[in-house]
Order: sequence, then C-alpha cells, then structure tokens
Amino acid sequence: MHLNLFTQCSPSPQFKGFWRHPADRSATGYRDLGYWVELGRRLEAACLDALFFADVHGTYDVYQGSWRAAVRHAVQIPSIDPLLVLPAIAATTSRLGLAVTYSTTYHAPYECARVFSSLDHLTGGRIAWNIVTSYLRSASANGLGSYLDHDERYDRADEYVEVARRLWEESWDDDAVRRDVAANVFTDPDRVREIGHDGRWFSVRGPHQCEPSPQRTPVLYQAGASGRGMTFAARHAEVVFLTMAEPASGASQVARLRAEVAAHGRDPRSVKALQGSMVMVAPTRAEARRRAEEYVALWSGEGQLAKWCGWMDVDLAAYPDETPVAEIAGQGSQSFVGFLRRLGPERTWTVGDVRYLVATARRPRTGAPVTLFGTVEQVADRMEEWCAVADVDGFNLIPCPTTQGIDDICDLLVPELQRRGLFRTAYDPAERTLRERYFGAGAPVPARVPARDTQAPAEPAAARG
Ligand SMILES: Cc1cc2nc3c(=O)[nH]c(=O)nc-3n(C[C@H](O)[C@H](O)[C@H](O)COP(=O)(O)O)c2cc1C
Repeated sequence: MHLNLFTQCSPSPQFKGFWRHPADRSATGYRDLGYWVELGRRLEAACLDALFFADVHGTYDVYQGSWRAAVRHAVQIPSIDPLLVLPAIAATTSRLGLAVTYSTTYHAPYECARVFSSLDHLTGGRIAWNIVTSYLRSASANGLGSYLDHDERYDRADEYVEVARRLWEESWDDDAVRRDVAANVFTDPDRVREIGHDGRWFSVRGPHQCEPSPQRTPVLYQAGASGRGMTFAARHAEVVFLTMAEPASGASQVARLRAEVAAHGRDPRSVKALQGSMVMVAPTRAEARRRAEEYVALWSGEGQLAKWCGWMDVDLAAYPDETPVAEIAGQGSQSFVGFLRRLGPERTWTVGDVRYLVATARRPRTGAPVTLFGTVEQVADRMEEWCAVADVDGFNLIPCPTTQGIDDICDLLVPELQRRGLFRTAYDPAERTLRERYFGAGAPVPARVPARDTQAPAEPAAARG
C-alpha cells in the first residue's frame, strides 16, 4: 500500500474553518520552516511514501464575484510557494518522497524542467511533479498568462509535458559531464544537444540547463478526472489521484483508468491509483463521536462555498436553487459533476443541492463517501476494502483536523496498517529513488506515449443522472 500525506503551504489545507481547532499549528506553521522540517521528519519516521503539496495561482474570487470570503476564511490564501520549502525538508530527511504541484498553464516548460531537475538533484531523486492545468481564472488577472478553457488547457499541457520530458531525457547523455581536469573538459559538448521544439504552444531550442539528475524525469502525478483529464493521465501519469465516492463505484472508475492506460499501449499496472480521502481517526468510538461534533462546530460553510465555486468556475450564489448544475458547468474542474453523478446517479443535482451539500456541516459517519472516519480499526478495515474492491494502490490522506490528523495518522493508523502487514515498517534500501519505491528497484523512466485521437470512454449511460 502506498501512502501520501496531502498538504498545502496555507492554513488548514482543504478544511475551511479548522485552523480554529485548539491543537492546530498549521495557521502559523504554514510559513515556518521549522514546521515543515518537523513534519517531514515525522512522516519519514512513519515510512510514508511522500508528502504531497497542492498549490494554486490566484485567489478564489468566483463566489459572489469577490475574493473577500476566500480571504476571510483562509481559502488557500494566505499561502507561500511550496517549491521553496522542499530543499529544507530534503536536507533533514533521506527517504521521504516530496511531490509538488506545478502548473502547465502559468509557467514555461523550460523553467519547469530546470526547477524539477534542480529539486531532483537536491533531494537525491525523491521528487514528483503533480501536473496541473490550473482552474483559477484569477491568475490571468495577475499577469500570469491567458486563461484557457478546460480542454485547451489539457492540449497545452500535452505539449508542455512533451517539451519538459525531451529536455530531461534527450538533451544530455548520461556521460556528458566529464569533469576531466587533465583534458580541461567539464562537459563534452558532443554529448549535449538542443531539442529544437517548435510546436503550437511552445518554441524551445534547448539545450537543457541541468545535467541529468538521479531520476532524470520526476515521478509524474496527475489528477484528471474528466474524460479529457483521464486521457491526459493515461498518456502521461505514473501516479493518479482519484477522488471516488465509495469502493463499489470506484471500481469502475479505476477499471476505466486502467483500460485507458492500456489503450495507450501501456501496462495498466504501470499506473498507481491513489484514492484521496479525508482521514479522521480516533482511538475509541466515544472519541470518534466527540470529534464528529467538533468537526461540525468548526466547519466554515462560506469558506467551503468559496472553494467549490473556484474549483468549478461557477458562482453558486448567482443562480436560483432549482437550476440543474449540469447546465451551468464552468471551465474549472469538471470532475465535480461526475462526482455528484456517482454520489446520486438517480438525481438531477441542482444549484441548491450543491450549495447545501457544500456549505452544510454534517457529522462524519463511518463508511460515508470519501471519508475515512472512525476508530483506527474501522478506518483500517475501510482502507482494506478500498484496495480489494476498487483496486486502488494506496491513498492520498488528507488529515482532519490538520495537526491532530497528522498525529493520528502517524501514531494510530500507520501502526495498525503495519500490524496487519499492509504497510512497510522500514524503507527498502534497494529502492533509492521515489520512482523505485513505486515501481521497484531499477525501474526506468516510462517511455513517452504518442497522442491518440480518441478520448477516454464516457461513463456508462446508466451512471448518468
Ligand atoms: C488529490 C488532488 C490534488 C489536486 N491538487 C491540485 C493542485 O494543487 N492545484 C490545482 O490547480 N489542481 C489540483 N487538483 C485538481 C486537478 O489537477 C484537476 O484539475 C481536477 O482533478 C479536475 O480534473 P478535470 O479538470 O479533468 O475534471 C487536484 C486534484 C486532486 C484530486
């Protein structure tokens, strides 16, 4: 089983309002190097695969046409740049993987290639790139480039990944750097080449600015859930994040992903599927009940709404309750419509439903959609069920509440999974890089896959609302 911990360099990632929890340290820790260094050490002691950093550009200003609610409730603002935090964690750990989000819409690929080669060198091959196309329109109001529609963002991302990979994989031979004092040759210019890319979106001559790093290419993560997103993931990704409602319907989603991977000529098992789940694990049933009450008390409905409106690129406050959501889908993330469909296949979801669903705090329940909530035994049972029924390879754990949640994952959940023989008790010394941790010692960078004309298969008609 592979386990990542989800975080972001902002107060109380994901759960709006939880920075008010008495034990919370994320509200000030998010911009404190000591906080991140300590977290890295803690996760490495628990043998986790990787610490995963989400990131966005711009502010959540879709809800009520303003960023005020996002600012008030700390909806990914304030935040700092996670790239700058990674080397400090790398310096104080030796095995923990570090996965970071980097946008194909708001950065240049030449710059991306240099950033990730640098990080891969500095971490000794422990870096993953979470490839995102970025859904927030507000980034373009800050001079970061034009906002592109959903599918066009993925078109650009296809070419972007191609360029970055050519810089990593074609520009420098393994033995290009000689450091030959006697011959006065640092690098043999005959073993370094330009890539000469001239495409629809980018013109990049090269050569790449960095010598080959331990992994050459970072482990490629992706989370596309729309048809277009899944095609992108099937072509490029080595690790895919999924946010599935529950194991039974999740099984068909994972099967679709693996089928699409196979249709791209890749081994369907060459992609690791990680389910993203909120984790709230307690030592006893009574404590779980108490925490469920606390969850309701801390929940910020307005903060959640601001977040969802940004994700969707739709102002849910601007439509009458009875409007069907499918009719007003914006150019943000499209997976939320699919998520609702799986949550209630028979329903026509309306704006009022979604507003209620998003803004209303409900007590978490054992076995409820997406959540891993309950006693440690209940949560471990549920994780076993996910792996067996949905065929996932692991989890991207979102700790709730942030600080206590991290403690509980490390102190309660991981030991229980280890007791059951489901999770490593030590890192395998043969697996030196993050890619090797996922795919075994000596695992190569996967071959690049040419684009296919077809899109991922649509969901079966029966599953539509
Ligand atoms: C676990 C997880 C983490 C994500 N992290 C980010 C992120 O940090 N930044 C971002 O812009 N999008 C992030 N996304 C959104 C995805 O990149 C993608 O836009 C989303 O899954 C919707 O895909 P779709 O547009 O194909 O429907 C994340 C998604 C998931 C499931």
